[in-house]
Amino acid sequence: METSISTKKEQEIKIAVAGTGYVGLVAGVCFAEVGHKVTCVDIDDSKVELMKCGISPIYEKGLEELMQKNYKSGKINYTTDFRTAYREADAIFIGVGTPEQPDGSANLSYIATVARQIAESVEKDCLVVVKSTVPVGTNDKVEQFIKDFLVNDVKVEVASNPEFLAQGSAVDDTLYAERIIIGTESKWAETFLKKIYAPFNLPIVSVNRRSAEMIKYASNDFLALKISYMNDIANLCELVGADIEDVAKGMSFDERIGSKFLNAGIGYGGSCFPKDTKALDYMAKQQGYDLKTVKAAIEVNNQQKAKLFYKASKRLITFSGLKVAVLGLTFKPGTDDLREAPSIDNVPLLLDQGAHVYAYDPVGTKNFAEKYPEGKNGNGNISYVNHIESALDQANVCFIFTEWQEIKNLPAEIYKKLMRTPLVYDGRNIYSLAEMKQAEVEYYSIGRKSVKVKGTKYAEYQNS
Ligand code: UGA
Repeated sequence: METSISTKKEQEIKIAVAGTGYVGLVAGVCFAEVGHKVTCVDIDDSKVELMKCGISPIYEKGLEELMQKNYKSGKINYTTDFRTAYREADAIFIGVGTPEQPDGSANLSYIATVARQIAESVEKDCLVVVKSTVPVGTNDKVEQFIKDFLVNDVKVEVASNPEFLAQGSAVDDTLYAERIIIGTESKWAETFLKKIYAPFNLPIVSVNRRSAEMIKYASNDFLALKISYMNDIANLCELVGADIEDVAKGMSFDERIGSKFLNAGIGYGGSCFPKDTKALDYMAKQQGYDLKTVKAAIEVNNQQKAKLFYKASKRLITFSGLKVAVLGLTFKPGTDDLREAPSIDNVPLLLDQGAHVYAYDPVGTKNFAEKYPEGKNGNGNISYVNHIESALDQANVCFIFTEWQEIKNLPAEIYKKLMRTPLVYDGRNIYSLAEMKQAEVEYYSIGRKSVKVKGTKYAEYQNS
């Protein structure tokens, strides 16, 4: 495709980014950081005003510093005026959400809205780049959709450029990504997208659009599968008296397996793995194909989430009237995101049973309190505390749902010292069995023997 862009080699590239969530905002800020001129578009006025003041709508390490620096130097701006932003852009990145629908499919309505706005706004040739996670074939449809609604006689081509950032390390994951995947259908789009990414100096894998779309799902679902596999093995370890931590360590020396994402726990959460596994399963079903492995990963994960609650239910007659310390609410450390977090599955179960939950999380309590306001909730009560000690003080039982560093730093003895009954259910395998035994804490974790305390004199390892 011949375009005006190819002739202005050394000129600044003007980029518009649609959506200022994790994907859009981080991409926009990082494009500005490497020297492009960026306009981030969002529909929410108040959010735009906050971003102009250097305040990020999401909690992400290092993001606000880069927002402030690049706003000051004029490299990034924020607006609700999509028309101007898209009209002036050489490339428009779409980073809006594709949330899960009740049937598991991805909701593409936000993508469609942006595509239509682009079609009605652009006045010069431009490249539209889909960063959002979308079902295979969506890029083709987006291109056709834009062409159908184009107002001016310009050329618009769509490219796929999936995102691989993880929450909590999003800025570094973007600036120092292991790979950039670009999916294009023309030399022009490929060359232009490579030019946009040239300042990052990272490995670029160039494929066609459908393969790029599939790389995103295949990567996320592979990681989800890896976690579910370890959780499945962990459950078997408990039954046969093996230790999942030792098993994972032994496996990790094999370079073909690798050492990452082997941590068993109470299931994967977040905005990506749960959604992307269901979306791929749905996509396969649509094609009449039974994607057995991914289905199994979903099933194992669903069962894993409330595993500790049911284990505790066997140990305790009731949660009614008990003080339950909940340490960690977010789906993982380093984020305030609660989507599909184990706490979201477990806290309602505890409240239903009449527990008085004392929840601690370094950043997640505000968001959690929006769902479960402090005070009476159903049959139970919930209180939010700023110090772990306040949650543990005189507690009857403790659940650990997120491996925040401040929780990991807690010495085992503190449970024995502060709790009324030192009874801990750890969904993240933070402690060694030996230290809990030494501290005389009754301790249940994932894929390991439990530590039972007889009286207060001694603790024993036992199969649970
Ligand atoms: C994930 C991927 O890691 C990113 O590469 C991808 O770009 C992103 O989804 C996305 O599609 O946007 P994220 O959801 O932020 O990133 O979080 P992860 O660090 O991958 O963790 C996901 C879940 O898996 C968490 O609940 C975590 O606790 C769990 N997990 C992770 C385990 O249970 N065990 C592990 O060994 C690793």
